[in-house]
Amino acid sequence: RAATAGTATAVAHPNIALVKYWGKRDERLVLPRTDSLSMTLDVFPTTTRVRLDPGAGQDTVILDGAPAKGEAQRRVTAFLDLVRERAGMSLRAVVDSRNTVPTGAGLASSASGFAALAVAAAAAYGLRLDPAGLSRLARRGSGSASRSVFGRFAVWHAGDADATPRDADLGSYAEPVPADLDPALVIAVVHAGPKSVSSRAAMRHTVATSPLYAAWAAAAGDDLAGMRAALARGDLDAVGRIAEHNALGMHATMLAARPAVRYLSPASVTVLDRVLELRQDKVAAYATMDAGPNVKVLCSRADAERVADAVREAAPGSRVVVAGPGPGARLLHGGG
Ligand code: PMV
Repeated sequence: RAATAGTATAVAHPNIALVKYWGKRDERLVLPRTDSLSMTLDVFPTTTRVRLDPGAGQDTVILDGAPAKGEAQRRVTAFLDLVRERAGMSLRAVVDSRNTVPTGAGLASSASGFAALAVAAAAAYGLRLDPAGLSRLARRGSGSASRSVFGRFAVWHAGDADATPRDADLGSYAEPVPADLDPALVIAVVHAGPKSVSSRAAMRHTVATSPLYAAWAAAAGDDLAGMRAALARGDLDAVGRIAEHNALGMHATMLAARPAVRYLSPASVTVLDRVLELRQDKVAAYATMDAGPNVKVLCSRADAERVADAVREAAPGSRVVVAGPGPGARLLHGGG
């Protein structure tokens, strides 16, 4: 790999959880309350370049061609501070990141974004990390980013809740999950604008105020075990059933929060109805949703076009994209 000292570029794809992460037990270390499991997509990559900038007094962050401000700038700088601390370096950097997905719309732009940033920043600052180490690092930027370090299917371990902070940090990382399945995920972008409440704020509020949260979290272990087994035997119906009840259950915890957090829009509900109709017509199609109104429908590759047409018809004006399992984060070039 041809290297310019202190410059590195990485690419990563978003992932969609089939067993969701919702709720932290440690905000600073980004330690989740439950294990989660996702599929990394083959669409919407983020490409991020990190260039060390000797002499600069602060980091420069460019997101999709424009200087980042406020919270986005602070999150990237805080992440780079972590990398600098571990690398024993103080040089500031110029970060140039390009998403191919609407940012902040519940389409996992923070997952691909922080996975790409973790790989590029580790290389630019000369940190040598194995995949689990990159996953732990990406986790600190955004929890779901820990899973985008890996391709196809990945489980993110919550780690031991009673461990010391140091051991808890070491125990919480993602790793690949074996799956005898190559499904499609039909993504209905019913609304591409940024969400009204960040997932970070919404999960904090849900854990603090929703009487349903404990029940959902208590069921996560069974959902995870069932999901692993269903993936291993290539059982699309079981994968879909678990993914759908886990996601709708997560939204139920938010609806019961005080006050409620509601990401579902009328268009989301229309698509959910259409998915039920597809199942009545004997098409194996199952829905999942994240912190936004967009709906993702899991189905077989063979049914993907039929499902995409049904979704387009149900939500006119929405953008519909058919995705499949995609690759893990990787360094394109460079290194410290
Ligand atoms: O990693 P965050 O803070 O963007 O949270 C992601 C939360 C969900 O997308 C709703 C669920 C998940 O597991 O990805």
